[in-house]
Amino acid sequence: EIASVEALRVWDSRGNPTVEVAITTASGAQGRAIAPAGASRGSREALDLRDGGSKLGGMDVRKAVANVNEVIAPKLIGMDVNDQRGIDDTMIALDGTPLKSTLGGNAVVASSLAVMHTAAAAEGVPLWAHLAKKYERQPSIPLPEIQIFGGGAHASQRIDIQDFMVMVPGASDFEEVMEVTSEIFRAAGSLMTQRGGAVGVADEGGWWPSFQTNEEGLELLVEAIELAGETPGDRVVISLDIAASEFASNGKYRLGLEDRDLSSDQMIALLGKWIDTYPIASIEDPLDEDDREGTIAFTQEFGDRIQIIGDDYITTSETMLRKAAGEGACNAVLVKVNQAGTVSEMLDTFMAAEDLGYRNVISARSGETEDVSITHMSAGLGGGQLKVGSFTRSERMVKWNECLRLQNAPGMGGFAAGESLANTWWG
Ligand code: PGA
Ligand code: ZN
Repeated sequence: EIASVEALRVWDSRGNPTVEVAITTASGAQGRAIAPAGASRGSREALDLRDGGSKLGGMDVRKAVANVNEVIAPKLIGMDVNDQRGIDDTMIALDGTPLKSTLGGNAVVASSLAVMHTAAAAEGVPLWAHLAKKYERQPSIPLPEIQIFGGGAHASQRIDIQDFMVMVPGASDFEEVMEVTSEIFRAAGSLMTQRGGAVGVADEGGWWPSFQTNEEGLELLVEAIELAGETPGDRVVISLDIAASEFASNGKYRLGLEDRDLSSDQMIALLGKWIDTYPIASIEDPLDEDDREGTIAFTQEFGDRIQIIGDDYITTSETMLRKAAGEGACNAVLVKVNQAGTVSEMLDTFMAAEDLGYRNVISARSGETEDVSITHMSAGLGGGQLKVGSFTRSERMVKWNECLRLQNAPGMGGFAAGESLANTWWG
């Protein structure tokens, strides 16, 4: 039984305020969680409540914190902490809007995640083990997607494409993924230094992209993979998040870096050329979240060769996922708990994806913290793939390091590795 629910204003990796919720049961078990925050958000995802005004750039969360303490807490106190669904439904009803704009997606998601942590604490088991048991899942260590160059909204739109990432599906264990990725990250850093200019990092810790064209990011990434002693496409493959909604408007795709506008068909042709030229195994949001025709056409053309992930396109919504599946759009879904707003809604999407034959990629946000909930969710649910950002900065590394801790835990399954890329050219 929940005895107290308390929100605290804490700070995320961009130095923005965010909501932490701590829940305590009558028997003294306690769990806590922090809301993450996106920058390249889908228009249909749960809305974070921000105070606006001039203070802290309008980003303050005092209203969201007050909503937890004054509105959510009185309803949750006395409820059974194991009743995740009942608690989430209570908050959904209390909010009463599709995007959780009354209470704030940040207030609701931190509360929902804290319930999950507290239930695990009450049972006296780690979160991943609690989830595996409660939802009858085979736990496993996920295959990571790790960012090497960060662009798009995470680098002031310095280049148009958002994430240039590597995956190591040919690794035999998680240690090997970390080591290979570290070598590639270093190699990419020395290539950037050689080319001159300041070398810094973007929002998720990937190298700041000082390129003349978007494709140069791919060329450099292949060079970095080779410099690290790897054969591109062998043990290591490339994954891209185009985050196309960020540079699409009125049916046109504006490649600002290259000063040109592409139609949907031209955008598909450009990505097709890249798929033919580089060892790309996965592409996320290839087209605008409202470009249904384009996304369906892209999936028809490339869906049997690569993984196509819907992030802004599906926004972790079961309804949107079912719609996409009915139309033949995408073959994988990015799963972000704060897009859905509650753990239960996220689980609905996750389970539906499995039923529909879509791959699940559990993901962090660009604004992150020391919270490791998603590592435990990915491992405990046997999620297959995990996307967390780059290979620097502790709000990222804390999630990878937690995988290292979990891999040897009693009861944990093996490393998900390449099987999650089955039915692509790599698999
Ligand atoms: P966001 O982007 O967290 O900034 O919204 C991450 C992504 O697009 O995957
Ligand atoms: Zn994305």
